[in-house]
Amino acid sequence: MSVVDGPRHVAIIMDGNGRWAKIRGLPRVMGHREGVKALKRTVEAAPKFGIECLTVFGFSTENWSRPVAEVSELMGLVRNYLTSDLDRMEREGVRLKVLGRRDGLPSDIVQIIERAEARTVANDRFVLQVAFNYGARADIVAAAQRYVDQALSGEAPSALTEEGLGSRLSSSGSPDVDLIIRTSGEQRLSNFLLWEAAYAEFVFQDDLWPDYGESALGRAVELFRRRERRFGGVEARTAAAI
Ligand code: IPE
Ligand code: IPE
Ligand code: MG
Repeated sequence: MSVVDGPRHVAIIMDGNGRWAKIRGLPRVMGHREGVKALKRTVEAAPKFGIECLTVFGFSTENWSRPVAEVSELMGLVRNYLTSDLDRMEREGVRLKVLGRRDGLPSDIVQIIERAEARTVANDRFVLQVAFNYGARADIVAAAQRYVDQALSGEAPSALTEEGLGSRLSSSGSPDVDLIIRTSGEQRLSNFLLWEAAYAEFVFQDDLWPDYGESALGRAVELFRRRERRFGGVEARTAAAI
């Protein structure tokens, strides 16, 4: 078995906040609040494992179907996180990007996102991508729509290629996703990074998201490093050869 280095880019479906709260007899929103603390711990720990880019699923296009109070709590948490952690991100060289649709988000949140992205745009020590109001199918459709708009505007339409479509996704510019982690024991993608997951490794962990942090991330990285990645070939490739 060949041992690979990396992962450079890790994506996490942060799941289990509601169950964490429920087993403690607390309202679901308390699970989300603890979830933000777990996110901060995980962002802090990621560079220690050589991770250069972390993408986290914060709110899906399907999460609008949750009770209004829960949706508004989640909006409030992202508002707080992107405001209170901005100085630290700037100081520590973290570049922040938010993936997903801006349409439909409260306008003050859109402003907060734009400000946070602009203030950290020159940072290159670490990239944090927060998928918020994100759905992979919608993201792929939006990328395809850009080709259509280009053709309709009379510009010479370029041939549709994998590279071209990939570069129009909201994750464009980040390295290939090496590892996708989902917490809470669920084993599905729930419309996360469908395109980018093509050759990612998957690790499913039973930890509920509010309990997550350096040691759980370390276990996931360890499992990843024992995997054989073949990319359709016959021999495993090390991260250095990718
Ligand atoms: C993940 O935790 C956070 C979001 C989806 C925003 P959940 O809220 O899905 O927690 P469970 O799955 O109900 O435990
Ligand atoms: C996926 O989790 C979305 C986020 C983690 C933000 P869900 O808890 O919403 O997914 P399902 O409904 O269990 O598939
Ligand atoms: Mg869930």
